[in-house]
Amino acid sequence: MKYFIANWKMYLGLAEARALAEVARAAHSEENTQVVVCPSFAHIDAVGGVVRGSAAALGAQDAYFEPSGAYTSAVGIEQLKELGVSYVLVGHSERRHYFGETDDVVNKKVKAAYAAGIQPIICVGETEQERSAGQTKSRVSAQVHAALQGVSVKKVIIAYEPVWAIGAGKTPSVEDAQSVHRMIKQIVKETQGAECSVLYGGSVTQDNLQAFWNTPDIDGVLVGGASAHKKTLISLLALLSH
Ligand code: PGA
Repeated sequence: MKYFIANWKMYLGLAEARALAEVARAAHSEENTQVVVCPSFAHIDAVGGVVRGSAAALGAQDAYFEPSGAYTSAVGIEQLKELGVSYVLVGHSERRHYFGETDDVVNKKVKAAYAAGIQPIICVGETEQERSAGQTKSRVSAQVHAALQGVSVKKVIIAYEPVWAIGAGKTPSVEDAQSVHRMIKQIVKETQGAECSVLYGGSVTQDNLQAFWNTPDIDGVLVGGASAHKKTLISLLALLSH
């Protein structure tokens, strides 16, 4: 199975989110390809209503790990499940950077997602500084180990998103990404013995999608900016069948 995950971040208004959801709903569904749209919490219900019954699945950009309680503004996994959410991004670099999400919190969210039967998409990636210091693999390895600490599951999805590539118009070479993907798969094999899909994310566009998509060990993409415009989303989805 290959995955195309659209992360609309906080880019859209309700009407735009609905329009993009219509695009995902209408997309030709390729066998062995899962399209997942991740709107903001504010639009989950509306977008879910549009994609329901189609081949596209509904994802959330985050979820809190506590099952319920006095946690003002938090959104729980069971609440998301009620709205038809089946995937959740966990540990996106913007969550780690702007909202202080630690490896420990990421681990709690991963556990909560599995416990609720929602598939987490665990986001990992090194910063520019770590990359320059030659620490890409050690940093990514540490994040993967931490996220899966105490977890024993059958299916793991990880998104490798170098922080320096996100929204930056630059990407690692396909070979460099592939080498990190291989390492991640090895870690998951050793620690979980689980099926593992590793997606690439960070400045994926119509120009580079196929290079990543068609490379072994790259099991799909997590797309931010380019998935949040109707025209580019249509082109990206059309490319999946080539
Ligand atoms: P980008 O974002 O495609 O805009 O670089 C990817 C992401 O943050 O998931």
